[in-house]
Amino acid sequence: MSDMTAVISADDVGRAVHDVASPMTVLVGLCFALRRRADDSAMLADIGRVEREIERISDRLEALANLARPVRSRHVWGAVRLAALARDVVSRSVASAQRAGVNIQVQLCDRDLVIDGDTRTLEAALENLVGNAVRHAGDGGTVWVSASAWGAQAVVHVADDGPGVHPDDRPHIFHPHVRGRDAKGFGQGLGLAIARDTARDHGGDLILEPSPRGAVFRLALPLAIQLSELSERGAA
Ligand SMILES: Nc1ncnc2c1ncn2[C@@H]1O[C@H](COP(=O)(O)OP(=O)(O)O)[C@@H](O)[C@H]1O
Ligand SMILES: [Mg+2]
Repeated sequence: MSDMTAVISADDVGRAVHDVASPMTVLVGLCFALRRRADDSAMLADIGRVEREIERISDRLEALANLARPVRSRHVWGAVRLAALARDVVSRSVASAQRAGVNIQVQLCDRDLVIDGDTRTLEAALENLVGNAVRHAGDGGTVWVSASAWGAQAVVHVADDGPGVHPDDRPHIFHPHVRGRDAKGFGQGLGLAIARDTARDHGGDLILEPSPRGAVFRLALPLAIQLSELSERGAA
């Protein structure tokens, strides 16, 4: 968190969120008006898609505002099934990846990978990793997402066969507002900083692993002890 607080104050975040919230409210109203005038189901489906995206942006804004709050109250804690969450994030990204000519391969272990965490901020972290990977893999590229248990940790790898992170940028890309020299598309350079804070708030970490090609990010989070395991231990 120290990096984040040094660069953005709680006031800055609050103001930015507020500034974006007003036009979002206008968009919600416009969707409502469009719904009443829509005369075919395809149009209604499109309006529904726009509404869902607006909702997701609102969620992200709230997550951003949350950064200014103390760690424990920043997340809504509960049991999160990490492999299922990764599967959901990937399935939402498949259509846009296809449009970009990127193939996404998924390998998820059978176990639930239950962790004690906050679905929304973890989802945002995974979305950023997958979004970055798709953008950097580029046309004809491949993204691999895997989730597995390693000892007491749930580990999600997000890898791609794009150009990877320039060696001189590797130490800096987790800092807020830093974009690498080869950064693709639009972005604020905040995603990895927020994702790593989220991982650390959960007692885990997010790192960029050494790799011969492309970029390989590793999100590791402590597994929750499950009731079934406790009863197995009790029985043993
Ligand atoms: N999969 C990737 N391949 C290559 N570079 C990456 C990848 N993911 C992140 N980066 C680098 O890390 C920087 C920071 O990422 P991020 O914090 O998500 O910000 P943004 O996506 O807004 O640029 C990116 O600008 C890019 O330079
Ligand atoms: Mg990003």
